[in-house]
Amino acid sequence: MAILKLYTYPEKILAQKCEKVDVVDDKIRLLLDDMLETMYEDKGVGLAAPQIGVSKRIIVVDDKTTEEGKGENPMYMVNPEIIEKSDEKILFNEGCLSVPGQCAEVERYQRIKVKYLDYNGKEQVIEAEDYLAVILQHEIDHLDGILYIDRISRLKKNIIIKKLKKQA
Ligand code: NI
Repeated sequence: MAILKLYTYPEKILAQKCEKVDVVDDKIRLLLDDMLETMYEDKGVGLAAPQIGVSKRIIVVDDKTTEEGKGENPMYMVNPEIIEKSDEKILFNEGCLSVPGQCAEVERYQRIKVKYLDYNGKEQVIEAEDYLAVILQHEIDHLDGILYIDRISRLKKNIIIKKLKKQA
């Protein structure tokens, strides 16, 4: 397994729509393993393939990642797709490994149903609410070239972009 390089805003690949995966083969599984290891290394709760420079519809998620970067509930999802959304929405303070050191409140659906292919290429459906639902919406957004800063006011987005430039 390997720790992969993280791509950060404003890398172009983060703004591109990713391609569907045809078959979950050993190559894809290796990518899933490396993505999970990279996510834990950075103490993240989710990571999408474009964040490591691969424009494919793949995410890894663990809503129980500890502060030491240990995982408890790893999920591998290929071609994830939201098939149901609740009417209720929630506000959640989100951050992103590709927007380092920043966060902002984002509005999301409180409950969703997601269809995806698992580590073995088998179709699965998961129902998620609250924190896990937020993570999944954030990661699936990445696959469509959308960052959480694209879902907040232009004013707040500009403030974050200015801070990022100062950091760099
Ligand atoms: Ni992110």
